[in-house]
Amino acid sequence: MKIITNISLLVGLNTQGLLLRRGKQMQDIERIEDAYLVIDDQGKIESWGKMQELDLTHYADNKTLDIIQLEEGQVVMPGFVDSHTHLVFPAWREGEYVMKIKGMSYEEIARQGGGILNTARRMQQANEEELYVAAAERLKEVISLGTTAIEIKSGYGLSTESELKMLRVVRRLKETFPITIKATFLGAHAIPMEYKQEPDRYVDLVINDMLPRVAGERLAEYVDVFCDRGFFTQQQTERILEAAARYGLKPKIHANELGLTGGIQAGVKYKAVSVDHLEHVGDEEIDLLLNSQTMPTLLPATSFFLNLPFAPARRMIDAGLPVAMASDFNPGSSPSGNMKFVMSLGTLKYKMLPEEAFNAVTINTAYALEISDAEGSIAKGHWANLIITRPVPSFEFLSYLFAHDLVDKVFVKGKEWEGKAGKF
Ligand code: NIG
Ligand code: FE
Repeated sequence: MKIITNISLLVGLNTQGLLLRRGKQMQDIERIEDAYLVIDDQGKIESWGKMQELDLTHYADNKTLDIIQLEEGQVVMPGFVDSHTHLVFPAWREGEYVMKIKGMSYEEIARQGGGILNTARRMQQANEEELYVAAAERLKEVISLGTTAIEIKSGYGLSTESELKMLRVVRRLKETFPITIKATFLGAHAIPMEYKQEPDRYVDLVINDMLPRVAGERLAEYVDVFCDRGFFTQQQTERILEAAARYGLKPKIHANELGLTGGIQAGVKYKAVSVDHLEHVGDEEIDLLLNSQTMPTLLPATSFFLNLPFAPARRMIDAGLPVAMASDFNPGSSPSGNMKFVMSLGTLKYKMLPEEAFNAVTINTAYALEISDAEGSIAKGHWANLIITRPVPSFEFLSYLFAHDLVDKVFVKGKEWEGKAGKF
């Protein structure tokens, strides 16, 4: 058993069993000052309270008791949940980064066979071992930055064998890391060059060849499609989601990054757990989302990195919607999995209040991975997935200091995380 004592601010509590926070509720955070927190031997949250109520004699018989006493100013909060990443990839794309600086757009690069297709070519040659080693380094790094649950997509394979290879790497990460990892099959991420004239034939391959294999080996929990201009149409997306539903794969899709392209319509129709990106959202889309269980998920680091418009987060929250924010970690459009930076971007670029941004990267992303009954907030019986910050003067500093590393320690399922990332 562990007791963290002298916590200046314990924040992100969830005493009402909420699974998400929407609209005005996004401004609510439950917090107590000068607190303690008890973690049981299973690594779950047992109890908490004000320091003055802590009676250590109560725990006197406990042989394994470990007391972690904090310094003045240290905050304890839930670990970040990153509900959208492409963390398994064979190589970075710094060349395209320079092309973008010189004026080319993400879409132009993609049309010329760069972008996702560039990574997919490298993926054909990569072996599972090297992919695993590189992804494991990235995962160690993001855990050190405070991420304690994550989703990882395939989508750089674009052939049956390579998609399966990526998903087996994700399976191995699940087996070797203590954090919760959810796998998403993104066979329809881009149309390979050889299918450019007949994209529907590629959709057939995804449906008839890839999906049965992915489902047969139980390699994914979710299905994703990049439903956007120059990628997959709403109709093609719906065909894939329809087929995936027969295998019990729920959608979490890329929608409306480049235009109003019907992705939200397709996602809501097939009961998507989340629709992600949403740089382009109209009134019709907001109404659809209001009448759904789907979590709108925004990826502000992608807008920042690609100079895309920022999603209308304020309009969405003011309309009563919940909003989640994830990193989109990938080599092309968001080469970072730093969720603290994502939280800061939410305040700076979406004009979310610090409380709203905090909820968007914890409880609401946990909902977008269907784990908010066990992670993403501090509640009795939830995993003790926690960040202990360096001393800060107030809650606002967590997002205000947009580029500082505020993490002192990370706890995953009650154990201090000691992994350090090495090379890029
Ligand atoms: O979410 N938009 C589609 N897919 C990724 C980008 C992947 C890449 O460029 O490698 C995204 O931004
Ligand atoms: Fe993405």
